Amino acid sequence: MAKAKKVTVYFCQSCGYESSKWMGQCPGCREWNTFVEESIEKKAAGQLKAAPGGTEELKTTRISEIDMQSKQRMGTGFGELDRVLGGGIVPGSLVLVGGDPGIGKSTLLLQVCRNLAETMEVLYISGEESLQQIKMRAQRIGQFSDGLKLFCETGVERIEQVVERQKPQAVIIDSIQTIYSEEISSAPGSVSQVRETTGRLLRIAKGMEITIFIVGHVTKEGVVAGPRVLEHMVDTVLYFEGDRHASYRVLRGVKNRFGSTNEIGVFEMRESGLMEVKNPSEFMLNGKPKGASGSVVACSMEGTRPVLVEIQALVCHSNFGIPRRTAAGTDLNRVNLLVAVLEKRAGMSISACDAYVNIAGGIRMNEPAMDLGIVMALASSYREKAIDEKTICFGEVGLSGEVRAVNMAQQRVTEAKKLGFETCILPKVSIPGLTDTKGIRIVGVGNIGEAIRQIG
Ligand SMILES: Nc1ncnc2c1ncn2[C@@H]1O[C@H](COP(=O)(O)OP(=O)(O)O)[C@@H](O)[C@H]1O
Ligand SMILES: [Mg+2]
Repeated sequence: MAKAKKVTVYFCQSCGYESSKWMGQCPGCREWNTFVEESIEKKAAGQLKAAPGGTEELKTTRISEIDMQSKQRMGTGFGELDRVLGGGIVPGSLVLVGGDPGIGKSTLLLQVCRNLAETMEVLYISGEESLQQIKMRAQRIGQFSDGLKLFCETGVERIEQVVERQKPQAVIIDSIQTIYSEEISSAPGSVSQVRETTGRLLRIAKGMEITIFIVGHVTKEGVVAGPRVLEHMVDTVLYFEGDRHASYRVLRGVKNRFGSTNEIGVFEMRESGLMEVKNPSEFMLNGKPKGASGSVVACSMEGTRPVLVEIQALVCHSNFGIPRRTAAGTDLNRVNLLVAVLEKRAGMSISACDAYVNIAGGIRMNEPAMDLGIVMALASSYREKAIDEKTICFGEVGLSGEVRAVNMAQQRVTEAKKLGFETCILPKVSIPGLTDTKGIRIVGVGNIGEAIRQIG
């Protein structure tokens, strides 16, 4: 029989692109300097042909014969996480939780373990921390039931054996970059290791109907393979993000085979672990200044949920030839474009000014419906006139200065009403779609000139 052959290949650490030679720029994802050398074993053609099992492995199934009894979603005990997952965990699914080191992935998953362990067998496999270190974190979080078992291991072969023997219903792998397979010679965290170990975990998840959560660190330097390499292998990809210096964290669904993406879950990091933030709008608007110019509340849809945030802008005279522009929490190009629209369509000589835009709270929001808020904040700062603090606005702004319709206008109005706002500035074309406007003054605007006139 032909023998397995060792070959050297180059992998892009960012997207997993495979190449036989080193390249400066990855043709797959266009990142620079991401290729690293790895040696892998390629099986000879003869070895691949031998299919395991007999003819029964090739049995096909009618859709009506599939039993759905075991496919019920299970709650994780966190409403915010369930929402991002599309309504709870699906048995047999593989969920990747990515995020920067230290953001709170292990804490979140340990808390999920605690909730799940009340009703099922859960196995937490850590390749990063010792049992004592996990216990220390667990003590911070609270009481644990005996349904949770811990295992410190990095070899995927032994992990497979333990899972097969214990048959838990949920498994946590913390983190994929520390897990390795003995069959592959490259270091843990390299693209071929991450791919191989994830492939094996995928087979366990699908074969035994176990839900597996995988933790993946995101790195910019490409020292370890980024979770992007495995995004296409797993069913669901969640990113845990947030400013490490702020206490709140946002869990964002990036890919979901069993639910919608773009949903967010908001948590707050406390001494006793992560707490759900049930009403993010209230949380985001905390500390909004009163009577200050350049500040306005806007509404962005995050998945199916409207979130109100404060947009702050500061416009001042530039001391240099080229004005400075920065945008925190939103897209700088969009800010530049809106400044140009203000100059051209609203007659504001703002393009020679420095302009700084910030979404308060450090959250990232890129929905086009934020445009009108950014425009209002810039105009308010430029004119040094404060916008009424009980006013919110939303709408997309086009290049001719027109305010364009946005979707789900009613949900946004309802959220504003719930939080005690009295006026809502929105696109005129969205007004016919509104069904309930009792208790809030609706101001429809057709272009940015009309919107700016509302500042007073
Ligand atoms: N006693 C504590 N009180 C409050 N926050 C803590 C405490 N201990 C740790 N943390 C928070 O937990 C974070 C570590 O979370 P962890 O789950 O280990 O992150 P990850 O697994 O994503 O690397 C720290 O960044 C810190 O913010
Ligand atoms: Mg961790």
